[in-house]
Parts: sequence; structure tokens; C-alpha cells
Amino acid sequence: MMRMRLNNTLFQIPIINNVLYYDTIDSTNNKAKELAKRGSVHGSLVVAKSQTAGRGRMGRSFSSADNQGLYFSLMLRPNVSMNHLSSITLVTALAVSTALDTICNINTTIKWPNDVYINNKKAVGILTEAGPDYVVIGIGINVNTKEFPSDISDTATSLYLETGMEYDLAIVLSTVLESINKLYHRFVSDNSLDFSYTNHLGATISFIEQYNSRLGSLNKQVYIIPYELTKQAANPALIDTSELEAMLCKGIDSAGCLICIDSKGYTHQVNSGEVSLRLG
Ligand code: BTN
Repeated sequence: MMRMRLNNTLFQIPIINNVLYYDTIDSTNNKAKELAKRGSVHGSLVVAKSQTAGRGRMGRSFSSADNQGLYFSLMLRPNVSMNHLSSITLVTALAVSTALDTICNINTTIKWPNDVYINNKKAVGILTEAGPDYVVIGIGINVNTKEFPSDISDTATSLYLETGMEYDLAIVLSTVLESINKLYHRFVSDNSLDFSYTNHLGATISFIEQYNSRLGSLNKQVYIIPYELTKQAANPALIDTSELEAMLCKGIDSAGCLICIDSKGYTHQVNSGEVSLRLG
């Protein structure tokens, strides 16, 4: 039923050329990468009701066993140069954030580079993985999730928990994909993050300004946490930042790097590769 209803809507979105549904799968990113390697078309979408091995950035897992969320991966074969691929994560984060605001009438924020937060808790994770001739954008949205495993129950949330309403997964999926479609086409046609687009009110707005205005850390003190430190901590909340210097976050630049100013006034251009962010 959901499949029939979804097919009609999804194939009207220009970026979608192929859709695969699973009740349960290990990881939609794994399946989308497999499809890419087997020569599947640009715009192949893999959607699952639950994942047994959902993955996040930097080797973390992503809780997705519950049938209450949306777990999907979109495989694209972009014409942009591969050093712009990390920018696709940022484009996706803004697209998801604005779509959720419209659906739920809320103000989501973005945690650079790839998470969408509601009221300081994580509601969405995005994992972008690239191969020689493809990129897979994996998105996990906690939609109607009522409960989380105890290790993340303090830091994770869902649309349901924040608004008290249940959402139709098919509508959330198609609205988010329409939003990605729109921003992605603007991004690839300019081959840069320095682009403007028309929002739902008809106003022309700059991508970078929009992204920065949603950054939860904008003009706040942050720690940039190297992967080495993340790896040592079982729980990201327990990472020891005592050896790190807090810096002032000034938002992203046109390369998608986070601009931070240290206590001596020096500017640092932080690349998202192997670091994560923590508010100071
Ligand atoms: C993160 O939290 O660092 C990113 C999480 C990304 C989760 C999504 S769910 C769909 C897709 N399949 C995966 O295994 N991961 C992504």
C-alpha cells in the first residue's frame, strides 16, 4: 500500500530514477553502494523500514531497528568534481532541515556538518559515502520513534517526541526528496556552494547564509574533536575535551569548511573529513 502510494509520488521527483524497498536490510547505504558498483542508474533510491546495521560517521552505529523512522539512501552520479563531494552532505543537511520545518512547523538546527537537531537533540543523521563514479547519500530520520536505546536516550529525539504528532512516512520521504532535488540541481549547476536559490516564499536566498543561519553553533564556542579522540570514547558524550582549545564558530565558507577563530585571533578553516564538533 505504502509502496504503491510512494511510487506515484517519488517518480515525479526528477532526481529519482529507480526505487527499491526493503522491510529490513543491514544498511541502505551498503545496498546503494552495491547498486552503484553494479552499474545502477543515477538517482537510485533504497528505502527500508528498519536496518540491522545502520551506520553513522566515523564508524558509529545509527539506531534504526524500530520501524518508526525513515532510513534511505540515494545514489547519484554527480558531474561535479569529487573534491566537492563533502559539500553534498551540507546541501543535504539544509534540504532536510528546511523540509522538516515545513512539514512539522518547527525550527530545526544543523550541527555541522551532517546532523539535524530539534531542541538540542539529534533527529536526523546523514552519511555520505563516495566511490570513483558515485556518491551515496544516506539519511536516517527519527520520525515516529517513541523510545531510544538507553545510551542515546538523552541525546536523540524524533519528530513525534518533539511535536506530539505522528507523521506519514511517505509524505516525509517525498517532501525531503523534493527539497534535496531542488538544492542539488542548483548546487551541481554552479559546481560550488556559492549559489542562491528561491525559497518557498519566492525570495532569492544564498545557500551559505541559509546554512549558517541554521547552525546551532554559530557565534558560539566549539571544540573540534579529532577522530583519534572520538575513537577512544565509547560514548561521544564522554569525549575528554580538556586538551582542546575552544574556538569561536563563524559558520561555513564556500568550500564547506567551518571557519573558527582561536583565542589568539587566528582563523582556522576546518575540513569535515575526520573531525566532529562539540559546543564549548
Ligand atoms: C550519523 O549519525 O553520523 C549519520 C547517520 C546516517 C544514518 C543513515 S540511515 C540510512 C543510511 N544507512 C546507513 O547505514 N546509514 C544511513
